[in-house]
Amino acid sequence: MTRPQFDQAFSLFPLSEIIQSAGSKRKVKRLLETFSCTRNMDLQEFLHDKAITFETNLRSRTYLYVDNTTYEVAAYFTITISTLHTENISPEVIKLLDGYKDDVASIPCFLIGQLGKSDIFKPQKIGEYILNDAIEIIDQSQESLGGRFILLDAINREQVIKFYEANAFFPIEKGTDLESIKMIKPYFSR
Ligand SMILES: CC(C)(COP(=O)(O)OP(=O)(O)OC[C@H]1O[C@@H](n2cnc3c(N)ncnc32)[C@H](O)[C@@H]1OP(=O)(O)O)[C@@H](O)C(=O)NCCC(=O)NCCS
Repeated sequence: MTRPQFDQAFSLFPLSEIIQSAGSKRKVKRLLETFSCTRNMDLQEFLHDKAITFETNLRSRTYLYVDNTTYEVAAYFTITISTLHTENISPEVIKLLDGYKDDVASIPCFLIGQLGKSDIFKPQKIGEYILNDAIEIIDQSQESLGGRFILLDAINREQVIKFYEANAFFPIEKGTDLESIKMIKPYFSR
């Protein structure tokens, strides 16, 4: 699927705008419940049960791709500011990530907290476009504020790690027994 087709098929809306214009939370919840993701129930549950509260409490910002034909949520991402805790990271990597010190306990960063597409779009390769849109929005904040990297917790499956690696993220931890792997996209050059 090329980007123009993607743009014609879906419209991207900030959840904050939808909440403002919908008038009732029940209406927004009904829209959010059109999203299903059986491969990642955490992703589905966040959108169904937490996204509105996180949005109204300014914990994060969620962006929805709404299918222009069915008006269902086809995909979404949630982004925010965060901190990376460094307890299991080597001093060399801490220094690389912090840009100054090798012994700090936490480093500020941007976070892609949630990202994924609905079950019905499983055969369509749209992940790259969703990820690029999330990065583009974070880039605008990074330009004004600084910040050294974008963090995300990738599901510890080879194909998922490969997907993020193909999009300029790299893992900062290893472990076959981990459920998820922390990956970053640096703004600094390595
Ligand atoms: C991750 C994602 C955005 C990538 O989208 P895409 O570029 O359109 O590509 P695909 O959906 O084909 O996924 C790429 C590969 O990762 C695998 N994959 C994706 N999500 C997976 C998951 N939750 N569990 C296991 N494998 C998964 C796919 O099966 C595919 O494997 P393949 O190349 O062997 O067919 C999309 O797969 C997705 O939304 N996944 C479900 C939600 C999810 O788990 N999001 C969080 C990821 S950290």
